[in-house]
Amino acid sequence: MSNNDLIVSLDIGTSKIRVIIGEISNGAINIIGVGSADSEGIRKGAIVDIDQTVQSIRNAVDHAERMVGIGISEVYVGIAGNHIALQSNHGVVAVSNEDREIGEEDIERVLQASKVVALPPEREIIGLVPKQFLVDGLADIQDPRGMIGVRLEVECTIITGTKAAVHNLMRCVEKAGLRISGIILMSLASGMMALTKDEKQMGTVLADIGAGATTLAVFEGGSLAAVSTLPIGGDYVTSDICYGLKTQTEYAEKIKLKYGCARIEDAADDLRFKVMRVGSNMEKEFSQLDLANIIEPRMQEIFQMIRQEVKRLGYHDKINGYVLTGGTVSLPSVLPLAHTELESNVRIAVPDYIGVKDPSFSSGVGMIQYVTKYVRARGTTAAKRPGKTKASGNEEKTGVMAWFKNMFKEFI
Ligand SMILES: Nc1ncnc2c1ncn2[C@@H]1O[C@H](COP(=O)(O)OP(=O)(O)OP(=O)(O)O)[C@@H](O)[C@H]1O
Ligand SMILES: [Mg+2]
Repeated sequence: MSNNDLIVSLDIGTSKIRVIIGEISNGAINIIGVGSADSEGIRKGAIVDIDQTVQSIRNAVDHAERMVGIGISEVYVGIAGNHIALQSNHGVVAVSNEDREIGEEDIERVLQASKVVALPPEREIIGLVPKQFLVDGLADIQDPRGMIGVRLEVECTIITGTKAAVHNLMRCVEKAGLRISGIILMSLASGMMALTKDEKQMGTVLADIGAGATTLAVFEGGSLAAVSTLPIGGDYVTSDICYGLKTQTEYAEKIKLKYGCARIEDAADDLRFKVMRVGSNMEKEFSQLDLANIIEPRMQEIFQMIRQEVKRLGYHDKINGYVLTGGTVSLPSVLPLAHTELESNVRIAVPDYIGVKDPSFSSGVGMIQYVTKYVRARGTTAAKRPGKTKASGNEEKTGVMAWFKNMFKEFI
């Protein structure tokens, strides 16, 4: 990788669009810029209005560009949503070399072979995660390069999405004037940011509780085993506050951020604030305790739904704990509440970089880490410093192999 390579991630969320610029210097990541903008055109994590989404993307990108003083031309785009599905597949090839030594070309061929799968016409492949290789039937091989064999097999997980959702996402980004360097499943990216190797091995649910959606990713046996998206999140809490305090969404959101507390027993009755109510020009006073009485039941419901979904996916007895991330877990006292409701080990994951130490940045930061590690050990430059020219496209070719080589270390 060239020194000072720049990688830009784009997370199109229900409440915010986030652009993160990472500078990669000798393999280490520095987050040098962040841009965010209110998200219009997204409901429950899905694009419902192209023009509004394009404008919101533009706003976030402009914000990041102004912050760092560079032009952003290419981005890695995060994808999530209930259209995402995983399926296991198997690829087999005969080793091509006369001396039967497995080379990189064989590995590329077997990975390509594992992508051959019957898919419904409305779906397409958006990613591939190798789990293990087999050489002449011998399993659990992490890296078959240099081994001698006749038959090379791979077992992998194929990530698919609906063509419509992928198309809409790409269309919005392109209409915002950006080239797409790659599409990355946000669960994989945040999993990389948030989970330790052991957590992935022993069985952990990563729950990203955002504004409009909660994305669950189950990691087991070292790799991503299941994903699911529930149409619930912080917007529900805000909406409950709206109704409970009879105020507008805008005020309810501000009150939630300033005084919100997820547990009644931790809330203060003497922390008081005034609220402008709908249909009246009179303010009414409430306490943090009143607010917690509204928030706690909703947060309990969200955790119960998460638990039920993990059960439905068949992982209830196989997991060792939960790791929470996403903006909603910033709510004070969310962790003890989650402990009680999920009855399991729980911790909160926050990116450990200056400027993005907030759980709502987990997917965006995770994407930069993911790209750095898997997609391009060398690659094209996603943003230009003034006066710097873009790296040539043929460097990208080495990216697949680099991605795959590093993939073993993480997923096996
Ligand atoms: N300090 C805080 N206290 C309470 N809630 C918070 C806090 N900070 C952020 N939130 C809530 O987190 C949510 C936003 O989280 P996030 O940015 O992860 O969502 P998103 O990515 O925009 O949406 P989604 O992932 O659902 O599409 C909002 O509902 C917001 O109110
Ligand atoms: Mg999100």
